Amino acid sequence: MFIKVPKGTQDILPEDISKWYYIEDTIRETLNKYGYKEIRTPFFEYTDLFVRGIGESTDIVTKEMFTFPDRKGRSLTLRPEGTAPVVRAYLENSMGRTSKVIKLFYLGPMFRCEKPQAGRFRQFNQFGIEIIGTKSPAADAEVIITVLDVYKKLGLRNLEILINSVGCKKCRAGYVQKLKKYLKNKKDFLCSECKERYDKNPLRVLDCKKDSCRRTIEKAPVITENLCQECESHFAQVKTYLDDQKIIFHENPRLVRGLDYYTKTAFEIISGELGAQNAIGGGGRYDDLVEELGGKPTPAVGFAAGIERMIITLNQQKVEWPAEKGLDLFVAKVDEKNKDTAFRLLQKMRNAGLSADMDYSEGSLKSQMRIANKIGAKFTIIVGEEELSKNMVILRNMQTKEQKEVKIDNLINKLRS
Ligand code: HAM
Repeated sequence: MFIKVPKGTQDILPEDISKWYYIEDTIRETLNKYGYKEIRTPFFEYTDLFVRGIGESTDIVTKEMFTFPDRKGRSLTLRPEGTAPVVRAYLENSMGRTSKVIKLFYLGPMFRCEKPQAGRFRQFNQFGIEIIGTKSPAADAEVIITVLDVYKKLGLRNLEILINSVGCKKCRAGYVQKLKKYLKNKKDFLCSECKERYDKNPLRVLDCKKDSCRRTIEKAPVITENLCQECESHFAQVKTYLDDQKIIFHENPRLVRGLDYYTKTAFEIISGELGAQNAIGGGGRYDDLVEELGGKPTPAVGFAAGIERMIITLNQQKVEWPAEKGLDLFVAKVDEKNKDTAFRLLQKMRNAGLSADMDYSEGSLKSQMRIANKIGAKFTIIVGEEELSKNMVILRNMQTKEQKEVKIDNLINKLRS
């Protein structure tokens, strides 16, 4: 029996890799233009970073982390998200010293031990951006605008932007009290998870997807009507920036994200094509996280998007992927006797900067031509005894099927012209 890929993970096969290159190139190119610099943090961190960063009572920390001890018994965790690691790196490398506002982005695998389903994996890839060091509402708007620009360049359509403000430490405490008071004699109508959330993290009851919970919170007090002056004004300014850029968004006062570090603005971008796991990306402001992780109080805002979900949406929207680039050249041998000459010629072509390949199996000329077609070679050089005796090879244009004898010394010039 074959050993299979672990549950919730998948191979990205060669035939799909060009999609990934295209997405990654588009992300890097766009984010560089907006002034973000790439950062690469380790795939695993000390567990405490996520417990303190994401929040002890969140689903991610209580149920979804891949945690294991190192040989000395220290607890490590495969990163379930990128924000806490980026803030750790920001602090550890004193990035705030060189400039007040730092704009970073990352791309790479994250790990969450969730129940796999369409669009939900245990290893998935995110691209994310973080702006650390500013409380300006323009930064919140910029994050949304930037990500929408990446989506637009990739051809994603029909996305819905949901935004909310979850307030700050000051105003949220009062709101949570009000919410608990409202829910107190309705606890029996909540699902078992939300009953627990009532004590540990009542805000999370607001975005439970279960019908009974949804009905129960229908008339619950709304957080945006309970914001302090500062949070209210911040939220209003973010919306004005978005309006000004003609970005259509929907306010959703029930939107609370699954990570505890958010303050003020929270947002999610959803795609109708994704079914139950409809969030293609999400983010928000996290003004307390840097301090929570041991730094000076430093406001920040960011966003992350799931790349697999972007690919699913692009496929469903039948977006045309860029054509795969074929090789410049394939080198075929008429006979096994010519294989060393063919190999030397192949290397010569590669050293001249051409993309080229040959077949190392002992296949017939016909089967080699099939390979040349399959890899999309523009030209094939056919190395045979008869032509070699004249210091020549046959050059076949794979598109026009035209063949001619060419002097070996003239090959490179011919292929470049
Ligand atoms: P998040 O909402 O947990 O936020 O994840 C962001 C995106 O990652 C989701 O919208 C989704 O597209 C994708 N994603 C999450 N879990 C899975 C999964 N199991 N399988 C496939 N895709 C998934 C964060 O991670 C925050 N760090 C975002 C952020 C950055 N906030 C501020 N800065």
